[in-house]
Order: sequence, then structure tokens, then C-alpha cells
Amino acid sequence: MNEKVHKLWPELDWINDIPLREKTAKTWELALERSVLTPDDLDKIPFTLLCGPDLKVSFMAHKRCVVHVARASGEKMNEFFKTDLPVNMNVLISGAILADVGKLLEYELDNDGKAVQGKYGQYLRHPFSGVSLAEECGIPPEICHIIAAHAHEGDLVKRTTEAYIVHHADFMTFLPFKSRLVM
Ligand SMILES: [Fe+2]
Repeated sequence: MNEKVHKLWPELDWINDIPLREKTAKTWELALERSVLTPDDLDKIPFTLLCGPDLKVSFMAHKRCVVHVARASGEKMNEFFKTDLPVNMNVLISGAILADVGKLLEYELDNDGKAVQGKYGQYLRHPFSGVSLAEECGIPPEICHIIAAHAHEGDLVKRTTEAYIVHHADFMTFLPFKSRLVM
């Protein structure tokens, strides 16, 4: 596995299907090859462009938090619901790691070196570019489905249990940054 990718994503080790772990890592490697952003940038740039200039939380801090929340949620659902609502943990973790991989193609650097949404990203938001990268790396459809359905575009899709978890893990860690009641 590419060392830079493994350093970014220690959570890859949670995928115990080795070929799937390799394909998940390979998708990130391909995205980094095609991106204007470096692994260092991902630790610095804000995780969203939608929460204004004061947002300090980095891209990687948010993406990794989503994976941790998704994994903990899947484990609790398996513990309490057992075979009534089985969660495939390998599919869930790979999907959570890959949900935003397409964002690496959404960004361009402006004249001040700041990451902004480029033309490609306006035509093809990251759920679409993410699926494209993932399929190129042999990621199976049940995981591409999570990438495709994790954001608002997915509200028109019937989601799997794993896709619901990633969607909610993503939004519960995003919406309060965007707008929340503070007493
Ligand atoms: Fe996203």
C-alpha cells in the first residue's frame, strides 16, 4: 500500500478484507495523483467551502471523524439489532473512507493558492467523480452506492443500511458547523 495514503488513513487497517483494503487505498492514491492538493494540504484546508472563512476544522479531521462515527454506529447496530438489520462492516468502512474521495478532483487552486471549487467540480460534484475513481480501481457497486448516495443527491435514491449510516455520520458532523442553536 502507498505509504502516503496509509499515513492519511490509518483507518484502512479496519477493513479486514485485504483485496478491498488495497482497492480502497488505490482509489485514494489515484485521486491524489490527479489532484492539485497534496496530503499536507488535506491536513490544512477546511473540510467544506460552505461554512464561511472562519472554519478551522481540516478536511482530514472531518473525513476521519465520519469514518469513526460510522464504524461506531455500525458496531452498535450489529450489537443491538443483530440479524434484523445486519451491517457489513467492511462495506461500511470502505464506503465511509471513500465518500469524499471525489472532492480531490473538485478543487482548483486560485491565484492566492487557496482551494476553490473548479469547473470540473461544478459539472461533476464529488459523489459522481468519486464513483468514477472508485470504479476505475475495482471498487464493487455496493460501495460505489455509498459514495453516490452519501450527499443530497442521494436523497432521491433508496439507500442501503450502510449508505444511511455514512450519510448521517457525514451530515451530523457537518450541519452544526453550518448552523446551530447556541444558547
Ligand atoms: Fe461529501
